[in-house]
Amino acid sequence: MKVAKTVEEIRRIIADARADGAGSVGLVPTMGALHEGHYSLINAARCECDFVVVSIFVNPTQFGPNGDYREYPRSIEDDLAGCETHGADAVFVPSVDEMYPAGFATTVGVAGLAESMEGRCRPGHFDGVCTVVAKLFSIVAPDVAYFGAKDYQQAAVIKRMAIDLDLPLRIVVCPTVREPDGMAMSSRNAYLDDEQRAQAAALSESLHLAERLVREGKRNAAEVIEGVRSLLGEKAPLGEIDYVAVIEPDSLEAVEIIERDVVIVLAVRFPSARLIDNMRVDVPKASR
Ligand code: PAF
Repeated sequence: MKVAKTVEEIRRIIADARADGAGSVGLVPTMGALHEGHYSLINAARCECDFVVVSIFVNPTQFGPNGDYREYPRSIEDDLAGCETHGADAVFVPSVDEMYPAGFATTVGVAGLAESMEGRCRPGHFDGVCTVVAKLFSIVAPDVAYFGAKDYQQAAVIKRMAIDLDLPLRIVVCPTVREPDGMAMSSRNAYLDDEQRAQAAALSESLHLAERLVREGKRNAAEVIEGVRSLLGEKAPLGEIDYVAVIEPDSLEAVEIIERDVVIVLAVRFPSARLIDNMRVDVPKASR
């Protein structure tokens, strides 16, 4: 496995791989602190692509002024070992100066999709995500890029960006990987103490409750949201709810009456970590 720190190095590595016959390049963009969720993306890339590149870059521009950029977990040695074990061919580990050299002045933004939920709670977040992802796409020129479904809105925003900018790649969104108690894997879970971690299991529990309510025939989104909020209030009292929403899967618009498949999304702020999760709920045609 090759490790590159500069744009020039990773471009050379990929050009050599293509010259040696690699027909497809897969990119797994990450901010490191890799866990099974990331490894599932690398596995998916390994199955589909001839050459697999993982990027590890804690991107400062997607953190707010009071965000956790400095505290964000960094574990580069373990991450490189994990990438190697899971079959990555190359890892791109640029510095902040390499990605944002003096004079850097361009921002990529997606209107509409990026303005609700995470976009509203974390102003500027998606501009930072889109800018760094657009740069990674330009640097690596992958045929396929892999993202996790836990960041549902992020995946939707990146798909929109790729379409709007005519980027010649396919975006694959892989299922959320969960702990045995249902908790979605996230690098930020490491911030939680035992009490917060135990309560955080209520996020996925509340999504299952929402799914059950819809399956049992509840069609009023406000009632489903109320069910989720009250379960979280009871079982995760340390968590402050940022939002719970029932949205249309593609437009991400809030749904009032559930007549088709929806995604239930939520964000909860615990004292030491802000967590997000979501679940798609399919509404069978017969019961619409
Ligand atoms: O999902 C993440 O880890 C980050 O937002 C990403 C896509 C790597 C961009 O920094």
